[in-house]
Amino acid sequence: MSITFENVSHVYGVDTPFEFHALKNVQLNIKNHSFTAIIGQTGSGKSTLIQHINALLLPTQGSIKIDDYLISVTNKPEKLKQLRQKAGLVFQFPEYQLFEETIEKDIMFGPLNFGKTEQEAKEIARSMIKIVGLDESYLDKSPFDLSGGQKRRVAIAGILAMNPDILILDEPTAGLDPQGTKDMMNLFKSIHESGKTIIIVTHDMNHVLEYCDDVIVMNHGEVERHDTVTQIFQDSEYLNQLGIDLPMMTRFILDLNEQGYHIDPSINCIEDLIEAIGGEING
Ligand SMILES: Nc1ncnc2c1ncn2[C@@H]1O[C@H](COP(=O)(O)OP(=O)(O)O)[C@@H](O)[C@H]1O
Ligand SMILES: [Mg+2]
Repeated sequence: MSITFENVSHVYGVDTPFEFHALKNVQLNIKNHSFTAIIGQTGSGKSTLIQHINALLLPTQGSIKIDDYLISVTNKPEKLKQLRQKAGLVFQFPEYQLFEETIEKDIMFGPLNFGKTEQEAKEIARSMIKIVGLDESYLDKSPFDLSGGQKRRVAIAGILAMNPDILILDEPTAGLDPQGTKDMMNLFKSIHESGKTIIIVTHDMNHVLEYCDDVIVMNHGEVERHDTVTQIFQDSEYLNQLGIDLPMMTRFILDLNEQGYHIDPSINCIEDLIEAIGGEING
């Protein structure tokens, strides 16, 4: 499913003293099957942007097309429920997403809503809780007894349970420890490899380098850049101006190159880096 934004603006609190232009004339095409990062400072409009993809927010101007679904100022798509199954959004604050008495019921909610039987939905809940790194004993617990990181995992399980074509993740690893973060990113990677489109809002440039293909840079409500990861990280001066750090590996390669090495700065995994350094030393 490809996603197109046509001249989309979003204003919060229209005609109130709090009126705020959170998105300004956004033109965008997110490719089917891409793994796209959305980066930019806090308040730049990242969360606002992605909530248009499943029509949680409607544009104040312009339209969004997702395959045959059209979202515009006046129109939620006719088949809104279907769209929300296809484009699954995990919120930045997962506590907003959990509302059932038990975790099992919470994960079953989507599948039941989309026509699965009670038994099928239970099966799905059992496999999804494991996929996000929690064991089955959690199913009977209340979502409100969980830590922030665990709530996030359950929220992700609830969205994965609907088997969406597009998975939209708003800072999904915030609140997870380093191992949990790595496991979660690898889970998204395997979902991507199974043919889905992934859109992830993140502040972690190491993740962007390692996992993503494309990058959208938001700045003051505008899409300022939309490019490949390699292209974006070549422009360290631009990122610097935005207060965004380079990935550790890119920084390291640039430092080496300043000392006379000639290593490809687009390298994104440690094995390739070791090989390149070895080649330089031996060559
Ligand atoms: N419900 C709202 N009402 C008014 N302003 C909002 C609302 N939600 C977000 N904003 C404002 O819109 C801007 C963009 O917010 P957001 O999309 O959450 O940015 P980001 O996700 O990049 O941090 C921010 O300045 C924020 O304060
Ligand atoms: Mg946000």
